[in-house]
Amino acid sequence: MFTLAVRTILGSFAKYMEMIMRPLIAGNWKMHGDMGWSDKPEVFEKYYPAKSREHLDVLICPPSPFIAPLVRSCSKAQIYVGGQNCHVAESGAHTGEVSAGMLKSAGANYVIVGHSERRANGETDVMVKEKALAANKANIMPIICVGESLAQRESGKASDVVSQQIKSSVPNITDYVIAYEPIWAIGTGKTATASDIAEMHAVIRKIVGNKIKILYGGSVKPANAQQILSTANVNGALIGGASLDMESLAAIAKAAPKNASTKNY
Ligand code: PGA
Repeated sequence: MFTLAVRTILGSFAKYMEMIMRPLIAGNWKMHGDMGWSDKPEVFEKYYPAKSREHLDVLICPPSPFIAPLVRSCSKAQIYVGGQNCHVAESGAHTGEVSAGMLKSAGANYVIVGHSERRANGETDVMVKEKALAANKANIMPIICVGESLAQRESGKASDVVSQQIKSSVPNITDYVIAYEPIWAIGTGKTATASDIAEMHAVIRKIVGNKIKILYGGSVKPANAQQILSTANVNGALIGGASLDMESLAAIAKAAPKNASTKNY
């Protein structure tokens, strides 16, 4: 009887935490864009004005050279800016690399680490963990990406793979975001089914607890955004292709649930 009461209280608390977690709608521009794209936040603002989106956070992660120019236009539109990767070191002889502190000083508040496109080029869980830690030290929020391949899903190992990735890629920090992106759904037009998403996000929730946002990524677009964003334990989306066009990014953001109200920006 007592255990049941405790469980009920804990259950409602978990539901409450989930309800008040602000959705994060994050665009990953990958290697797209040019300096002319710094007017995109203004375009976004026209489609979805800041005063109508106080219940959510919008983030754009452009290629590094465009971070500083975008920060100016994004701050007017109340949109956060993030990097797509960072080096583990603060500075040093690492030609071509960018540190988390440099992203921060350019005005970025987030950084994506461990995207599957980088893991495919040899980025390991250990490296992802170090990058997330470097981001944390630089006072910038890491978005740690995880996700299984099609072969891993088809052999029934998806949950084990993703659980292991989280255990090995998340450092001992309290502020981070997880992005679950099944590799086979990225840039392919294939999205996981609502039940696949719910199932995996529940697995991740058990590991990370109630205070961490879990984003879904992989072919999120205006047509499927509402269903995905209203799935249990989905606290936002990481969007590639559809984030290049402000009308579609705004349509996705509009589909986010409106039950969270604290203003963060
Ligand atoms: P997609 O990319 O939306 O184009 O599938 C998502 C991502 O790679 O973050």
